[in-house]
Amino acid sequence: MTPHFLSFQFLLLLILLCTTTTTTVAQPAPAPGPPPPTNITKILEKASQFTTLIRLFDITKVGDQINTQLNNSKQGMTVLAPTDNAFSSLAPGVLNSLSDQQKDELVQFHVLPTFISTSQFQTLSNPLRTQAGDSTFYNFPLNITTSGTQVNLTTGVVNASLANSIYTDGSLAVYQVDKVLLPMKLFGPQPPAAAPAPEPEKKKKKAGDTAATGDSTANSSSAVDLRLDLHGLMRGLIAFIAMFCL
Ligand SMILES: *[C@@H]1O[C@H](CO)[C@@H](O)[C@H](O)[C@H]1NC(C)=O
Ligand SMILES: *[C@@H]1O[C@H](CO)[C@@H](O)[C@H](O)[C@H]1NC(C)=O
Ligand SMILES: *[C@@H]1O[C@H](CO)[C@@H](O)[C@H](O)[C@H]1NC(C)=O
Ligand SMILES: *[C@@H]1O[C@H](CO)[C@@H](O)[C@H](O)[C@H]1NC(C)=O
Ligand SMILES: *[C@@H]1O[C@H](CO)[C@@H](O)[C@H](O)[C@H]1NC(C)=O
Ligand SMILES: *[C@@H]1O[C@H](CO)[C@@H](O)[C@H](O)[C@H]1NC(C)=O
Repeated sequence: MTPHFLSFQFLLLLILLCTTTTTTVAQPAPAPGPPPPTNITKILEKASQFTTLIRLFDITKVGDQINTQLNNSKQGMTVLAPTDNAFSSLAPGVLNSLSDQQKDELVQFHVLPTFISTSQFQTLSNPLRTQAGDSTFYNFPLNITTSGTQVNLTTGVVNASLANSIYTDGSLAVYQVDKVLLPMKLFGPQPPAAAPAPEPEKKKKKAGDTAATGDSTANSSSAVDLRLDLHGLMRGLIAFIAMFCL
């Protein structure tokens, strides 16, 4: 795949070179195109020491989402980027124990849906809004304390410090953090059973669910029938096309 991609890029480059050469001959000052879209992966690669975060951005597709969102919104974004050291100081197996959805939540927790410059940190009110959503105590709270240029973060599970800014362009800001921001929802204590009243109702609903399982089996078998029908239809269609072509 890569060689194809490379040769495609090469071809594109050739075409680009040809067209720019001709336009340069025709008109000496070609208008500058739109700036290339921001690529968070490229930014983190350049900074090095973020290979784990890059991998997480990749498998959760949050990296692509950031690039798209940056292109489409005027609010900008801020990424709190834990270093490889931060990830390796987690207990072994922690990342692997997370489901895909939990990985997604963990990564989204490190992304803030606005551009925050270094000087703006002092003006933020707690809890911060992250892309993980619900910032109430047992979910995804992220609080900040500042003193001068020092910025600390707490998730209720870990305390972290903001280190240097890796990148800023007025739309995207990336800051290095020394800890993985572990959200309460995934790593903290869960709310005490403060609402025992709705419990029996849930159990009743569960019983209803099991009763409905029979129906769903019937439905799924009819879905299988439908799929078989579709297969038959496709086979017929292919046979028809084959006959027609011969
Ligand atoms: C972003 O950069 C990475 C690494 O440099 C590259 O693999 C990827 O294709 C780029 N994505 C886009 C959309 O250009
Ligand atoms: C960025 O947004 C513009 C329109 O706002 C769109 O034409 C372009 O395709 C987008 N680029 C990417 C890489 O999403
Ligand atoms: C940040 O945390 C460090 C300890 O990790 C502490 O010494 C410092 O006072 C804290 N600063 C702020 C602004 O909370
Ligand atoms: C964050 O700050 C808010 C408002 O001060 C507070 O209610 C909440 O308990 C704090 N959460 C954590 C995890 O420190
Ligand atoms: C985080 O810092 C607060 C005080 O700022 C402290 O009470 C708490 O124990 C710290 N938590 C951890 C996990 O270090
Ligand atoms: C499929 O499920 C619906 C409820 O979701 C039920 O009303 C219907 O009878 C089921 N169909 C079959 C064929 O069992």
